[in-house]
Amino acid sequence: MRRSSTSSGHSVNAARTLWVRVGLIAMLAVSVSAQRAPATGVRTLANVLQLHELLISPASDAVFNASTDPPADDKGWTAVRNQALVLAESGNLLMVGSRVRDNDNWMKMSRALVDAAALAATAAEKKDAKALEAAADPITTACMDCHRPYRDGGRQMGAPPR
Ligand code: HEC
Repeated sequence: MRRSSTSSGHSVNAARTLWVRVGLIAMLAVSVSAQRAPATGVRTLANVLQLHELLISPASDAVFNASTDPPADDKGWTAVRNQALVLAESGNLLMVGSRVRDNDNWMKMSRALVDAAALAATAAEKKDAKALEAAADPITTACMDCHRPYRDGGRQMGAPPR
């Protein structure tokens, strides 16, 4: 082995060491900046069941009640409109983050809830008792259409079969 090849081997090693150091420093810089970067974007916390407990069940109860027993005054209509909006927006929340079960049917069923609840919101905005009554059916359909595949494994809504 000739001396010159040994010394060039040394310099190659030195260069490698240098690049490894540069690489490590770069990685460190990236990880530090990642830690410093402020958290952004959506962070979902409630699961599908909790969304029901928090929003979907109480809001749909209020809308269903008003669909058969319409509000007597402006305050009542506003309250129903707000509950219909809560119900519609909860459909949007079903389409976000950890709640999403798939990117196909789940999204369609959630969107159907938004659209059905929007009918009720519009009816309440107009203080239109007939339109509010008519909005109850599409809402019920939206609930059932999603429960059949995603909750009940094909079973119909209502009391469990005996
Ligand atoms: C996009 C799908 C979807 C829509 C729309 C939907 N649900 Fe659900 N629902 C579910 C799933 C999934 C569960 C089961 C959640 C679990 O147990 O993790 C559930 C559970 C429930 C439960 C049982 C909760 C409990 O305490 O066991 C009720 C009641 C319910 N839904 C009512 C409704 C009503 C009323 C509507 C319409 C206003 C509705 N849901 C709309 C998917 C949906």
